[in-house]
Amino acid sequence: MRITPLLGLAAALATASARRSHLDSDDATPQSFVNTAVARTVELGGATSLVTTQYNAKALVDNPGAYVLALGGQGAPPPAWYEVLVGGKAVDGVEFGSLDGAPALSVPVGKLAKDAAVVISLTALTAHSSRPLPHEIGQRDPQYLLWETNSTLVDSAYKSDVERIKIRAPTPSILQHGNVPTTYTRDTDVTKSGSTLTLGPFYGVPPTIGGAGAADQAPFYVHYETTNPIVGIRSLKRAAEVSHWGGNLNIQDEIALFNDGPTLRGQFSRLAHQQSKFHATKPAQILTELTLRLPPTAHSVYYYDVIGNVSTSHFRPGQGASTASLTGRAPRVVDGTLEIKPRYPVLGGWNYSFTVGWDSPLSGALRVDAKTGRHVLAVPFLTGLKDVVVDDEELRIVLPDGATDVEVFTPFPVDAIEHSVHKTYLDTTGRPVVTITKALVTENHAQNVYVSYNYPLSAQLQKPLIVTGVVGVLLFVFIVLRRVDYNIASAAERKRK
Ligand SMILES: *[C@@H]1O[C@H](CO)[C@@H](O)[C@H](O)[C@H]1NC(C)=O
Ligand SMILES: *[C@@H]1O[C@H](CO)[C@@H](O)[C@H](O)[C@H]1NC(C)=O
Ligand SMILES: *[C@@H]1O[C@H](CO)[C@@H](O)[C@H](O)[C@H]1NC(C)=O
Repeated sequence: MRITPLLGLAAALATASARRSHLDSDDATPQSFVNTAVARTVELGGATSLVTTQYNAKALVDNPGAYVLALGGQGAPPPAWYEVLVGGKAVDGVEFGSLDGAPALSVPVGKLAKDAAVVISLTALTAHSSRPLPHEIGQRDPQYLLWETNSTLVDSAYKSDVERIKIRAPTPSILQHGNVPTTYTRDTDVTKSGSTLTLGPFYGVPPTIGGAGAADQAPFYVHYETTNPIVGIRSLKRAAEVSHWGGNLNIQDEIALFNDGPTLRGQFSRLAHQQSKFHATKPAQILTELTLRLPPTAHSVYYYDVIGNVSTSHFRPGQGASTASLTGRAPRVVDGTLEIKPRYPVLGGWNYSFTVGWDSPLSGALRVDAKTGRHVLAVPFLTGLKDVVVDDEELRIVLPDGATDVEVFTPFPVDAIEHSVHKTYLDTTGRPVVTITKALVTENHAQNVYVSYNYPLSAQLQKPLIVTGVVGVLLFVFIVLRRVDYNIASAAERKRK
């Protein structure tokens, strides 16, 4: 069994596996832990599902080393986003890799004595794990999704004494679901209560991966109704441009949105659509509006598509942190909201591309380190939308002309970070540009990316000096022309006299 390093963790894993030699051997994972109880909840959505799992583990030996945490079974895609807590706290040194072809983490749990207990919790967001079934429906039909997994049981490298699984659908309308294997449970049936399915409890479950005598893993599915449109974003191109001069941070998003729900059978009827709006029976699969949360200080908001300005949008400004509250308590911060109403109802399989942008005061995003003079700029990676996956994002940060020694910090791994230079009108050395790309971006990635740079006073003065210079030259030319003109005019006048 091997941990295969990914995401450039090769070096880190090499030293880690030297420490935990069992991870690099072909033997089964040493059973240095046992799960005394495992509890999992799966919340099914549209484009994403949220899986939270709590592992109550017990060390079977002194100094058991890192806990190997399986993120899925063999061949399962890794989650789009995950977070691991040990005893309720974030820990350093969690490493991602693969174990027998299954995505896995190596989680440091500190020094443990034999029989000591530790609680590990995993929150994972999986992307595109449900698909429409049927994939073509009538305009007024309900929308059903099929969620499938290869692993009914929670995948683990260790034995589990008892295991409980709950699967929550967005509505109680569940058409069908799979059966659980009876090997580890006396209850052959899945219990349904409202929109929740309860599987198990399962007792004495052997390891499902990384060991000999693996448990009988079986597939499971849930066929459920969802009443919200399945919104996807194929690509999001965010440009963030800093103007020290104007004290402004401009953010502009080019969004290629699509409806990932079932496609429409037959023709779209605008009349039926109007009627359903009138009767407040919102058709699940038709996207008619979308609300973006903007920073509290956002202003000068714009929204346009290929045809032009979309006048049906509505912007509600937020309340900035600078607004003092009357009660003397901490000032209230309220996000701005932009309600977007696409020009046409976006049906299943349809695309809609648009651009939104706004300005906000640079003072809220930029800090200058008094000691080193370095500038640190915070740029939101994206404006998160609940249950929406961005398949490909590109964030382009354009720094001021003359900025140097650019460094980037991202709070999560990204696919690529590139540095380049962009030159425009009146620039001298050009503007450093940082381009960050990442696939499978979710609402949990709506965090700040930090860029630090030097911006010497000489560079800050460059632009005003150049502008002054250019204005001066223009003025001079103007004066000269005026003089020439005047001379010609006066010459003509003199001639006439
Ligand atoms: C199920 O297993 C197959 C074969 O290994 C794999 O291709 C697929 O991605 C797995 N599906 C999930 C949801 O893990
Ligand atoms: C665009 O539409 C908005 C309404 O959403 C309106 O307030 C704004 O003035 C329009 N802008 C232009 C340039 O027409
Ligand atoms: C939507 O856009 C994608 C990618 O650009 C394209 O492949 C697809 O054909 C488009 N769908 C429609 C209905 O235009």
